[in-house]
Amino acid sequence: MLAAAGYFLPKLEGCSPATYAVFKTDIVDKKITIPLAMFATSPIQFVRPKGWYYDIAVQKRDENNYTALLLQCTHQENQLIPAGNNGYSCSLHGSQFDVNGIVRKGPAEKRLEQYTTKIQDNNLVIEILKTP
Ligand code: FES
Repeated sequence: MLAAAGYFLPKLEGCSPATYAVFKTDIVDKKITIPLAMFATSPIQFVRPKGWYYDIAVQKRDENNYTALLLQCTHQENQLIPAGNNGYSCSLHGSQFDVNGIVRKGPAEKRLEQYTTKIQDNNLVIEILKTP
């Protein structure tokens, strides 16, 4: 099923700034659909719609609660990188965001874009109503 929905990029592949596994997939009808089974190995997964520069961090909070944050710095749109359990950081000017996308350190002032998620069958559906 994973092969049908997308594929994983190996670490450090291509020109992506990502140093973690990224699940590439398509947006269909303004939605990304990923199998819930992806979260069996880790509560956080990174997804990148084909053609996007930015990843979406999808985190399992509990069985029925998932969040999806766009890893685009709200200061000057740099791709963010995960900072362990401390959220996400920006290598350009040092902004930091917590795991909920709230600014912990500027110069960024706005929280990260968060997408609505819902569980449908054995999948997580992320609604992409706004593209970066
Ligand atoms: S672009 Fe991220 S802190 Fe400036």
